[in-house]
Amino acid sequence: MNSIECRICETPISAFISFGKMPIANGFLLPEHYQNEYFFELSTAFCPNCGMVQIIDQPTPEMMFHEDYAFFSGTSRYMSMHFERFAKSVMQNRLRDKDDPFVVELGSNDGIMLQHFKEAGIRHLGIEPSLNVADAARAKGINTVSEFFNADLAQKIVEEHGCADVVLAANVMCHIPTLPDIAKGMSTLLGPNGLLIFEDPYLGDVIEKTSYDQIYDEHVFVFAAGSVNEAFSRHGFELVHVEPQTTHGGSMRYTLAKKGVMKPSAETLALFKREEQLGLQNPTTFETFRENCERSRDELMALLNDLRAQGKTVAGYGATSKSTTVINYCGITPEHIRYISDTTPTKQNKFTPGVHIPVEPYETFTNNYPDYALLFAWNHKDEIMAKESAFTKSGGKWITYIPKVEIFE
Ligand code: TYD
Repeated sequence: MNSIECRICETPISAFISFGKMPIANGFLLPEHYQNEYFFELSTAFCPNCGMVQIIDQPTPEMMFHEDYAFFSGTSRYMSMHFERFAKSVMQNRLRDKDDPFVVELGSNDGIMLQHFKEAGIRHLGIEPSLNVADAARAKGINTVSEFFNADLAQKIVEEHGCADVVLAANVMCHIPTLPDIAKGMSTLLGPNGLLIFEDPYLGDVIEKTSYDQIYDEHVFVFAAGSVNEAFSRHGFELVHVEPQTTHGGSMRYTLAKKGVMKPSAETLALFKREEQLGLQNPTTFETFRENCERSRDELMALLNDLRAQGKTVAGYGATSKSTTVINYCGITPEHIRYISDTTPTKQNKFTPGVHIPVEPYETFTNNYPDYALLFAWNHKDEIMAKESAFTKSGGKWITYIPKVEIFE
């Protein structure tokens, strides 16, 4: 399938790029499951009407989020700190004057953000359909329901707990193909002065850094301020504030209120203008982006083939979801990369989706440094560089492809 109706405004849209056949990005697997591995075509479109960037085909949510979901939010120390700051800023700026506030989080994972509300004695509810991570949250005493959010669930929550003052979501909203239903559910769940605050990887960064690896099955949308405002304004919301974030290689935090309740901030108006300058509403921007992706792929493969020809050892660093797009789109094989080191126990001793590169515990990397490490977890570069000085001291070199393919020490 190369064209569909826009999930936001139903305008017919067609792909500007195909990354080819892709497996489930977080589908780390064992050899006995290779036979049944699922593939779909990963291609991306831009809606010229509402400006929403979205993938065309998406596997069903049940194929991606289930009891074995490999992603635990609590695996990065920097991300833990980020969510603590996020929670505290909401408490300070949005909840201070509320009597007995109620906070709901969509996709609350292992409770990495809600735990701060719990500690502050604030009524909270996490909505997390992946059972294993939801169980981890419940074990920490964080109220969590394991269901997919929709208008019915919103109604049930309101009946049981009353309206929410704030609904939060971090790296979740861009996962939900039925965004209009979510927006409808939000108008039920949030009280008249309630706020929806969410953050996701930002289209402006993806375009500027050619970070095409933000595009994978789970990320059905790549948001910008303009497209978020368009999508939610159809359901009575208005974008009132934006705050750029460095997380996930460049994200944006959006605050939406019910229409007419708050004036859009100066930052919001400035970002609308900047997006116009960046051409985020302009189809030619996406043609250029496609060319940049192809160049990045060709340069990375030239480099990896060259290192292979020289007999150098290369390991991947961080078995990210993003890496599934890079590995499968570029055609990286175990011949190029012997293994990928990752600190997440549920990924270790499995194989990467599609191409089946072994995922090894971190100690495999530290016990016997490779000549080169390909930084798939580039969004954690600062954290990783801070702890890996011994690798570079031993003569090890890093390879990145963001914003361009290069070797660094
Ligand atoms: P993440 O940043 O969540 O990216 P994505 O959303 O694309 O999956 O994943 C980071 C991965 O990298 C995660 O599997 C943990 C791993 N990791 C390490 O192995 N070592 C590290 O020092 C850090 C920061 C992450």
